[in-house]
Amino acid sequence: MRTDDDSWDITESVGATAIGVAAMRANETRREDAVFRDPYAAKLVAAVGSDGWNSIIDAALTGGGETGGTYTNGVMGNFLIARTLYFDDYFTAAITAGVRQFVILASGLDARAYRMQWPSGSTVFELDQPKVLEFKATALADDVPEVDRREVPIDLRQDWPKALLDKGFDPDQPTAWLAEGLLRYLPGDAQDRLLENVAALSAPGSRMALNIGTGSRALSKDMRERRREALAKAGIRMDLEQLWYPWEGRTDPRSWFAMQQWLVREGDPVALLQDHGRAVPESARPDMSTHILMTAIRPRGDDTL
Ligand SMILES: C[S@@+](CC[C@H](N)C(=O)[O-])C[C@H]1O[C@@H](n2cnc3c(N)ncnc32)[C@H](O)[C@@H]1O
Repeated sequence: MRTDDDSWDITESVGATAIGVAAMRANETRREDAVFRDPYAAKLVAAVGSDGWNSIIDAALTGGGETGGTYTNGVMGNFLIARTLYFDDYFTAAITAGVRQFVILASGLDARAYRMQWPSGSTVFELDQPKVLEFKATALADDVPEVDRREVPIDLRQDWPKALLDKGFDPDQPTAWLAEGLLRYLPGDAQDRLLENVAALSAPGSRMALNIGTGSRALSKDMRERRREALAKAGIRMDLEQLWYPWEGRTDPRSWFAMQQWLVREGDPVALLQDHGRAVPESARPDMSTHILMTAIRPRGDDTL
């Protein structure tokens, strides 16, 4: 059960969801026809020391199997692969537009600071729960990112702007923000505060990318049950529905950013995968399309998306 001030380590509660998405990236990375490669994902999952998560990666690799196949090839797996592509492209476009300050909200086991090409003078801030950041720092102790990577251990329901400013964030510089796999883990009012804080700290030319599912109830009961069973077979007990707060009654970030006069553009996860030559199972498409994948930009005057 969630509470307003709950906290977690990497293997607990919301923390474990970061392992789930890293496992998916590890799995994709090992495919011959990978649409992206994250060379750090398998190492991070291995550092957790969970046979269950390692078996998820391996089962999917050896042709699917019932366990890995169901978990990684369904709605969740396909959506996670699509969103990785989308947010990688988002950062690349921000770099091309001259942005040099990047903030990853709820960075979890995201290794973009290590795996992407950052121009010199770039800074990547990573915010997450203290124990999650600690775990990643230990697991990647031998890896040195080329970018100036700064950890900001904080709960995103608390005063994270102060913590970010204390680490040297410059609100007068354009920033590319990312909230990947975060918003449904926040109550609606905490999401509102987060978006308001992002806007308040964003100089003209800043941008924000995020995703949010518009309701687990839209995901068929059958699909949910299969996901739960697939994980249970690997010995992993994770019930996402218990960790998420509802979509209903929440601010729609698309209209919120539009109201702030930011330019909003949506991505289509199914089209994105197909553009990369990845067939998307017919059965996964309707539920994948219930996920919002979007970018908003605070124009400087002549900016377009
Ligand atoms: C599904 S994972 C996504 C991690 C990463 N963005 C990715 O896509 O690989 C969710 C992450 O959100 C973080 N998170 C959720 N609520 C948070 C909060 N209130 N404060 C700090 N971190 C939070 C968790 O610790 C976890 O790392």
